[in-house]
Amino acid sequence: MKIVSVINRKGGSGKTTLALHIAVAFSQAQQNTAVIDLDPQASAANWGDRRAERVPVVRSAHASRLKHELRQIQDAGGDMVIVDTAPHADSAALEAAKASDLILIPCRPSYFDLEAMTNTLGLLRTTGKPVWAVLNVVAPFDSEAEAAAETITALDVRLCPAKLGRRVEFSRAVESGQAVQEIEPKGKAAGEVERLYELVERSLRDG
Ligand SMILES: Nc1ncnc2c1ncn2[C@@H]1O[C@H](COP(=O)(O)OP(=O)(O)OP(=O)(O)O)[C@@H](O)[C@H]1O
Ligand SMILES: [Mg+2]
Repeated sequence: MKIVSVINRKGGSGKTTLALHIAVAFSQAQQNTAVIDLDPQASAANWGDRRAERVPVVRSAHASRLKHELRQIQDAGGDMVIVDTAPHADSAALEAAKASDLILIPCRPSYFDLEAMTNTLGLLRTTGKPVWAVLNVVAPFDSEAEAAAETITALDVRLCPAKLGRRVEFSRAVESGQAVQEIEPKGKAAGEVERLYELVERSLRDG
């Protein structure tokens, strides 16, 4: 079983959006996938409640129960777990990071977001786990995104070659308990998620 955590101290950077979309991508690839929602706001768990499909399974949990939850999912034949975390919750995020094979940090291409990412990285470095920054909410022809990519690379963190654009489909899909791959499978947003999924899947497979 592989575990990916989505972490950023900054609120609203796209953690839940990213976690849910990658989870649906793994489900569509016939992987037994679960989302663990560590955020008391329960956005991911509420998405699960709005959802008509039975997969991925979404469970709300407290960080102190994470190991137990992971064991239960593994015993039930889980292949893949995506952990969505809360902002400003360092000890919970650290628990998730330590249990993970890969950590994704979604980051908007703005100064404040990059600053917050530096702090998040400081928190995660102690775990020695692989970390990818994923640019999110990127506008078309965004020079800020290019500058952000340079800043991220200079921070000595791997910048994921796949990024997510600023697309209304992401919020529209999540609102209806779905993912962009489900509401518009041939759309640009779905293509971005597919590319991200492929990179994550390959990285997990190659170890
Ligand atoms: N690629 C995108 N394009 C357009 N809107 C997006 C995109 N990603 C996220 N959003 C929107 O940005 C807002 C914040 O996203 P989300 O809830 O996923 O962030 P978060 O990091 O989980 O927030 P929190 O820290 O509060 O848990 C939501 O309204 C979401 O629909
Ligand atoms: Mg969230």
